[in-house]
Amino acid sequence: MKGNTTVDLSSADLPQAGSTAVYPAKVFLNGSIVDAEDAKVSVFDRGFIFGDGIYEVMARINGVFFYGDAHWERLDTCLQKIGLDYDISILKDAIPGLLKASGIGQEDCMIYIQVTRGTAPRQHGYPPSPRPTAMMYAWKKTLPAIETTHSRVVTMEDFRWSRCDIKMTSLLGNVMANEWAMENDAYETVLIRNGVATEASHCNVFFVKDGTVWTHPADHHILDGITRQVVLEICEALGIPVRLEGVPAEKLKKMDEAFLTGTGSQVRAIQELNDHRYFETEPGPVTLRIQEVFLEWKEKPAAN
Ligand SMILES: Cc1ncc(COP(=O)(O)O)c(C=O)c1O
Repeated sequence: MKGNTTVDLSSADLPQAGSTAVYPAKVFLNGSIVDAEDAKVSVFDRGFIFGDGIYEVMARINGVFFYGDAHWERLDTCLQKIGLDYDISILKDAIPGLLKASGIGQEDCMIYIQVTRGTAPRQHGYPPSPRPTAMMYAWKKTLPAIETTHSRVVTMEDFRWSRCDIKMTSLLGNVMANEWAMENDAYETVLIRNGVATEASHCNVFFVKDGTVWTHPADHHILDGITRQVVLEICEALGIPVRLEGVPAEKLKKMDEAFLTGTGSQVRAIQELNDHRYFETEPGPVTLRIQEVFLEWKEKPAAN
């Protein structure tokens, strides 16, 4: 058995196995911007003990957080859903300083934000006067203008809890679902609950049949992705009919097109679902059109 494992953050760009992810050099923690190796949280933090926290991820594109208001609103709403009183304006105000400290000027970047219920003796009940732990970091990242990667996805039973609308840090169900994709040389796992496709491990999922776009309604069984909302707005703007319904598992292969949406994944065509191919070389026309307009909207900050 391995002994104590310490993570050496002295080189700020330590790559992680199997990914291009890096540790950030600077972290915002409870009001201060500190070197990543000094960003320490108690082992009794409820985020660590219970996964009792909320997170958010947003992308800054051409100097503007893409649908930033919607991301902030979702963070605030999710904090309220778990009864965690935290003033998110503290985070908003700290962002310019965090970006500066992180060496990010006008470049595109991503930001990760998390707020937990803080440190307290371990018992399930909410502590009477919680002192939330708030953490954020940013990293330079230019997303592709149009996501041209064609993805393979696999399916599995959605065994997560019934409040997937809460963007919580307890992501074990999603992590396990994603691992199923990794084991099967796929990018994502499309989850099936009550016989219909809900979403994927870190993306929402859309299908197209006879020109109509299908996606699961924004109920407690999916996270209402901001990118999902943007795509629904695009459909409305383009006059593309939408059915807010989960596609039955047995009909997935009969759909004409399929794509994933997410802040990092943008609008990403699904080429293959299990052993079924939706297309050989080019995604279908609806996916391509939505990708085009998504790019236009990214380049037009007024749309944010
Ligand atoms: C389970 C799940 N669904 C959907 C999404 C997509 O959400 P958004 O478009 O807001 O990034 C995410 C993003 O993290 C997710 O974790």
